[in-house]
Amino acid sequence: VQTSFESRLKEYKTRVDTRITEILNEQHPVDLYEPMRYALQAGGKRLRPVLLLAACDAVGGDVNDALDVAAALEIVHNFTLVHDDIMDRDETRRGRETVYRHWDENVAILSGDGLLVKAYAELKHVSPDLLPDILTEFSRGILKVCEGQTLDMNFENRHTVSLDEYFEMIRKKTAAFFSLACQLGGMLGRGSPEQIEALAAYGLYLGIAFQVQDDLLDIVSDTAVLGKDAGSDIKAGKKTFLMLHALANGTPQQIDDLRAVIKKENVTETDINVVRELFLSIGSMQMAAAEIKRSLAVANQTLQLLQPGEGRTFMKDTLKLIENRTF
Ligand code: IPE
Ligand code: IPE
Ligand code: MG
Ligand code: MG
Ligand code: MG
Repeated sequence: VQTSFESRLKEYKTRVDTRITEILNEQHPVDLYEPMRYALQAGGKRLRPVLLLAACDAVGGDVNDALDVAAALEIVHNFTLVHDDIMDRDETRRGRETVYRHWDENVAILSGDGLLVKAYAELKHVSPDLLPDILTEFSRGILKVCEGQTLDMNFENRHTVSLDEYFEMIRKKTAAFFSLACQLGGMLGRGSPEQIEALAAYGLYLGIAFQVQDDLLDIVSDTAVLGKDAGSDIKAGKKTFLMLHALANGTPQQIDDLRAVIKKENVTETDINVVRELFLSIGSMQMAAAEIKRSLAVANQTLQLLQPGEGRTFMKDTLKLIENRTF
């Protein structure tokens, strides 16, 4: 038996997927359009468009008015993943080869560009009185993702990164996107400025939790469950929440051992196991879990600013879904 949360989740996903299929309909040349579809068809949790529709509903709007922008936002998300996998040198995404591995880097760059353009073109469906503000916020949000991604890449080559800098980076690369999704939903549902602000805050804190959890899953999960390369952050020398916590709290010997892995050109499975054990003994996994809980609790609190009802309940339940996710 499906709960009302599950059936609503499924309904939102189906509607978004149908719209995405309609949007990505070009055929020739196949080396542009086939990888664009490939990137979107492999599944994915569809969290951002689902949240956009839920936010619209939570302020009393009609989700039909938000569907095009929801689909556009998911297409942008997939654009960021296609390019992110080139930058992170990852081979697997959603259980299959990344676009640049399946084709090549040029194909991945171009099909990513194509996805971004197709997403923007969808905004033409927004009602004219809302369009200028939607366009402004949409662009501002995506530019933040680019800023965050720049910091993420810069940090790979830095010896020290503070936790404040880390949070700035994930607020931009990940949380800004979730915040944008919820904000756009509120705008398209014609919520009040206070409601839209509350939704943006909910998305921001949910997004912070989401990225810390993504960092955690990289080291505690495996490729088969994750559908993407486990241990990838260690291989790339990413400054994840766990790595920064371990570097700040380990003994001098533990820190030396971590530094030795970070320095390595070719990180092996054995190295990843060493790092996992270090994270465990330093308490970095527990700290990440605590951080996720804290951030989700703040997100939950912001929902108090919305009217009680099914829409708000759905957004509350989404926090549980995220807390329990394994991929
Ligand atoms: C992956 O996002 C990128 C991050 C911000 C960590 P998701 O985990 O939402 O990816 P899909 O769309 O479900 O595959
Ligand atoms: C993703 O961060 C943020 C983006 C803007 C794409 P990650 O690089 O950690 O995402 P995954 O782990 O590859 O999905
Ligand atoms: Mg990345
Ligand atoms: Mg990545
Ligand atoms: Mg990651």
